[in-house]
Amino acid sequence: MAVYSATTTAPVNIACIKYWGKRDTKLILPTNSSLSVTLDQDHLRSTTTSRADAAYVKDRLWLNGVEEEIKPGGRTATCIAELKRLRKELVEDVDSAAPTLSSFSVHIASYNNFPTAAGLASSASGFAALTASLAALYSLPCPPTTLSLIARQGSGSACRSLLGGFVAWNAGTLDSGLDSLAVQVAPETHWPEIHALICVVSDTKKGTSSTSGMQRTVETSPLLQHRIEHVVPQRMIDISTAIRNRNFDRFAEITMADSNQFHAVALDTSPPIFYMNDVSRAIIAVIEEYNRVALLPENGGKRKAAYTYDAGPNAVIYAPAANMKEIISMIIHFFPQQEVFKDSFGLFGTDGVGVGGPGFVSGFNANVAKTWELGAIKGLIHTRVGGGPRKLGQEESLLGDNGLPK
Ligand code: DP6
Repeated sequence: MAVYSATTTAPVNIACIKYWGKRDTKLILPTNSSLSVTLDQDHLRSTTTSRADAAYVKDRLWLNGVEEEIKPGGRTATCIAELKRLRKELVEDVDSAAPTLSSFSVHIASYNNFPTAAGLASSASGFAALTASLAALYSLPCPPTTLSLIARQGSGSACRSLLGGFVAWNAGTLDSGLDSLAVQVAPETHWPEIHALICVVSDTKKGTSSTSGMQRTVETSPLLQHRIEHVVPQRMIDISTAIRNRNFDRFAEITMADSNQFHAVALDTSPPIFYMNDVSRAIIAVIEEYNRVALLPENGGKRKAAYTYDAGPNAVIYAPAANMKEIISMIIHFFPQQEVFKDSFGLFGTDGVGVGGPGFVSGFNANVAKTWELGAIKGLIHTRVGGGPRKLGQEESLLGDNGLPK
């Protein structure tokens, strides 16, 4: 008997121009365009298997081995329904010999290779992997941009994880949402030197979710209207140009400004939302000082790193690969690590990090931050720009022959 199953992986993306605010909460249409860097799946990914079988009685979903309810009319149900509709329209109605998979129920198992406790948003890679795996199962003849329309309805930021490299989500203007989709500004091969250091900042208190936080911002923040009308449109143009020209100085300037404005509109919300904490702000101080020195004419006059923060205290530091050793040494000096740094790119050889001191650039004022207690940053992940979703072989399936997670 034929087995209908597909397994794919999808990447995490971290925005440089932030999506924050919806003009349609059901279709997930944003109030402004956004732009992100897709991160390498060798380090961070969601893996999803989708399997269709005439014998299944209902659609079921398991996240990291635990079954989750698929709420009728909810985001997951919407994505599954949209993909079944495309299967029927684009495959079954065209080829009468094609198996009628759109009428079968599906079992979906998804797994993140990074701990949820790391505080990294898993909804973007998760909904992108779900969309890509069902599209593969259904043999949909759709480019990633078309699939981004569906992933967007799972979680807005997920639409950008359907593509690799540098990706824009065009807000669009149509009520249908058909022009609110992700497009590639440049592939990862255009600027592979862009690396990222994720600083996992400990946070015990439960924060405000993106979904509810941004809705409150739309309802109460006057600053958000200024951002939407007068700031983001020009930044989208300017950062796309910076990416095309591989101009890191400009890329960094815009990325940091946009992170700061996103956190300003969070603060401008009533009641205010605080996503960054003292550790987050100390990381900003260190990177700003690092750039102050780099901007001196005698040092070349260009920024060497950019921080950005999403709806939580974690920092993501973007920098050209050549600066990463210096940046990691500096971060570990101010934020001593409990665990041995996982040196994914072999920057430190057998010496290990920290040997030979923090290696501050000449003129760096080390008083901008104190040396924090162990665990203020509980982990560092060094990764880089990467590609879009990947299809895996049947041997990588997360579902067994009985249709349940292995
Ligand atoms: C701060 O995509 O998680 O990370 O569409 O409600 O699921 P929903 O929100 P989500 O919001 C992400 C917000 C952000 C900025 C960004 O990724 O652009």
